[in-house]
Amino acid sequence: MLAFGSAERRDLPWRRTREPWAILVSEVMLQQTQVARVVGPYERFLARFPDPQTAAAAGAAELVRAWTGLGYNRRAVALHRCAVQLVERHGGAVPDDADALRALPGVGEYTARAVLTFAFEEDVGVVETNVARVLARAVVGAPLKRAAAQSLADRLVPEGRSWEFNQALFDVGALYCRSRRPECGRCPLRRQCRWARAGFPEPDPAVGSAGVGRPQSAFAGSNRQGRGRLVAALRTGPLRAGAVPAAAGWPDDPARVAEVVAGLLADGLAVRGADGTLELA
Ligand code: ADE
Repeated sequence: MLAFGSAERRDLPWRRTREPWAILVSEVMLQQTQVARVVGPYERFLARFPDPQTAAAAGAAELVRAWTGLGYNRRAVALHRCAVQLVERHGGAVPDDADALRALPGVGEYTARAVLTFAFEEDVGVVETNVARVLARAVVGAPLKRAAAQSLADRLVPEGRSWEFNQALFDVGALYCRSRRPECGRCPLRRQCRWARAGFPEPDPAVGSAGVGRPQSAFAGSNRQGRGRLVAALRTGPLRAGAVPAAAGWPDDPARVAEVVAGLLADGLAVRGADGTLELA
């Protein structure tokens, strides 16, 4: 069994609530954005959209505006569609059922499980890259693929205490069992850790574990960067067709701009008017 003290718990705003909509919003934000960058936008977003009804009644463009600072804006569009479905099919509430959760736009296996444990305290494990790394090092002492990490996490959850267990694993991953330069000396798991007890043999069990070792491709110069610039410009208002290439940062590369615009349209983030004007959907 893994045992944690309470000292490892960070005070994060989404940990002060069990309100399912707030938890869902936080987990969608945390899917692809670091904790420190989520705190501010999370609090502002919930002040503006305190429940699914408010989010559904707003336009998707308003959610995209509220997504400023988080990146991967298509999550905001999916969250808007999700809010609409919550209102239309679930009486305006976040369901407490795994299948119903997974059927919602923007909600995959990870987010469904995070909502089940953090809002409804159901006994399920939540595995993402950081948790998989902790389990690989501390529990198995060998690389763990996604499915094995998930079933191990499910087995380790102490009955009735999944909330504490999953939050503690996130914190051990963030504070001590970091990918590079882990702080094993201060880690609450150091006495139990398989990798530590074996004397830290190479290779590090985290390498090759679920989602580890595939760093994100470079941002600078990527289509993602141009897309981010374009969405930032669209947040301030519609763009005439002729202004789009410069707003994307590539005034001399219309082919690339067209590719990025096609992506925005396909993802439902932007719409094009009859005169070619581009605006948030
Ligand atoms: N990453 C995803 N969910 C998290 C949470 N609830 N706390 C800290 N990091 C997280």
